[in-house]
Amino acid sequence: MATMESLIGLVNRIQRACTALGDYGGGDQAFSSLWDALPSVAVVGGQSSGKSSVLESIVGRDFLPRGSGIVTRRPLVLQLQKTENGQQEYAEFGHMPRRRFSDFAMVRKEIADETDRITGKSKQISPVPIHLSIYSPNVVNLTLIDLPGLTKVAVEGQPESIVEDIENMVRTYVEKPNCIILAISPANQDIATSDAIKLAKEVDPSGERTFGVLTKLDLMDKGTNALDVLEGRAYRLQHPWVGIVNRSQADINRSVDMIAARRKEREYFATSPDYGHLSSKMGSEYLAKLLSRHLESVIKARIPSITSLINKSIDELESELDHLGRPIAVDAGAQLYTILELCRAFDKIFKEHLDGGRPGGDR
Ligand code: GDP
Ligand code: NA
Ligand code: MG
Repeated sequence: MATMESLIGLVNRIQRACTALGDYGGGDQAFSSLWDALPSVAVVGGQSSGKSSVLESIVGRDFLPRGSGIVTRRPLVLQLQKTENGQQEYAEFGHMPRRRFSDFAMVRKEIADETDRITGKSKQISPVPIHLSIYSPNVVNLTLIDLPGLTKVAVEGQPESIVEDIENMVRTYVEKPNCIILAISPANQDIATSDAIKLAKEVDPSGERTFGVLTKLDLMDKGTNALDVLEGRAYRLQHPWVGIVNRSQADINRSVDMIAARRKEREYFATSPDYGHLSSKMGSEYLAKLLSRHLESVIKARIPSITSLINKSIDELESELDHLGRPIAVDAGAQLYTILELCRAFDKIFKEHLDGGRPGGDR
């Protein structure tokens, strides 16, 4: 439905504008509660469980640093914005507005460099997020958050507190009631030891906002399978489990591209003696669809509260702009104005949607 897509797109843009405003020190309460009212998807799991790989597959582009050990050391807030068909794909960083990256290898390099700028070339972590937006006709409107992996012990070069620091950082994202949790567990480890499930269970005991993702199905011991997990017998969640086969380290070293990887994954499920009967509900492409469908229904349910927050923000923005008179900080004034425009647009589309006589929408 076009309206739903434009509403989600607007929600994304308001989130981005609020973030940019935060950078000017205008971290206003109204805007942070607006941000928190909007749903996002965060990946949670042990180190090297495949979190970054899953995110890349959902986006359908290679752009994240991946590998063994601690690679993701700052949160990455990734906003996917669907554009008109035929438009060129590009990416933009919050810390480098107006520079458009069309080479995704450069995006990966900039994520690594920007991580080092704050943490040094160490194994240290930082809670300061990196903001990245990807504009493409081939994505669904989603906000995804990549997070450092949960660990059990500090390694050389890390403070003793790192295990707790990472867990606390991850928790600040996943405890928000509007955060959809992608709980990533590798199939070659016992699900009972999954860090992802442990934390998800703690912050979302009913499992209504947790999606269980089982990676590394290809790495299980011969003669074993993950049907107990995938069919919901080992650990029951409200949403169905999704099994995934990402690229192996050898594939990464050989630069196997995304299209080839997806084909291989599809073939894996289609021809698998164990999972063949589940193949239409497995894999990264299915996961991306499942998530965007879920996000739509969440946004639909939240429309009344988002609208009232937006109306409140419109009032505050108007008085703030009045108060500014001539913008003092040009950029801050412009950002406020942008948010105001976006909020009005949201309000307008929403009202048209209502006038269309189908307030809840249908599809
Ligand atoms: P993260 O630390 O959780 O973000 O994990 P990464 O996405 O960086 O992956 C860690 C390592 O596991 C990389 O070498 C990946 O190639 C490998 N890996 C991830 N998922 C799979 C999978 O489904 N199958 C195989 N064979 N390797 C995987
Ligand atoms: Na890793
Ligand atoms: Mg990672």
